[in-house]
Amino acid sequence: MEIRALHTGEQPPTGLLLLADPSPKLVEDYVARGQCFVAEADQQVVGVYVLLPTRPETAELVNIAVNEEFQGQGIGKQLVNHAIQEAKRLRFKTLEIGTGNSSIGQLALYQKCGFRITGIDRDFFIRHYSEEIYENGMQVVDMIRLSQDL
Ligand code: ACO
Ligand code: ACO
Repeated sequence: MEIRALHTGEQPPTGLLLLADPSPKLVEDYVARGQCFVAEADQQVVGVYVLLPTRPETAELVNIAVNEEFQGQGIGKQLVNHAIQEAKRLRFKTLEIGTGNSSIGQLALYQKCGFRITGIDRDFFIRHYSEEIYENGMQVVDMIRLSQDL
């Protein structure tokens, strides 16, 4: 499997990006402002992430997703670790990530990759999404913010 930046003019994998964030508007905005990377196996795009510069010396991993058929095989972890290396290479000092209060597997993955919880943006998903979102039998209401020093 190879993880690479999108080629010039190559369309981002919108379907995959929408797995991580149900808002087409937010996804379009991230992709326009950040850099999109894809994981490719046998010429098929199986994963994606977007690295977004947010403040001086700080970047955020805003959107990470693995094709459902390929989840649970370590690809997500490889993508997170690739993003950490890429952010270091670009001389960012801090990498941030955020996920929903209900995203238990994602919170496990991010902490296994070195992120620590820094705060909670209460009611983020109420303020920014017009429809209620449910995951793991819970309503997604709060954004858990995590970060790591690079
Ligand atoms: N408890 C403990 N550990 C867990 C749990 C759990 N409930 N769930 C997952 N994990 C661990 C796994 O054990 C594994 O760690 P390990 O290698 O030490 O065993 C790790 O978390 C996940 O491993 P991967 O197989 O690398 O993950 P995967 O390839 O399935 O990708 C991803 C993870 C990207 C979250 C995928 O499930 C996905 O695409 N989900 C839908 C989209 C999504 O929710 N994206 C994130 C939104 S937030 C954001 O984008 C910033
Ligand atoms: N993802 C999604 N949901 C989960 C997960 C998961 N990884 N793990 C548990 N849940 C859900 C279950 O699905 C269930 O919800 P549901 O009824 O909607 O399906 C609920 O959490 C747990 O259900 P119970 O079977 O009622 O829980 P249990 O009898 O196992 O008791 C307890 C939970 C008390 C935490 C038990 O596991 C325990 O004694 N653990 C060791 C001691 C401990 O850790 N105590 C808490 C320390 S913190 C404190 O005391 C304040």
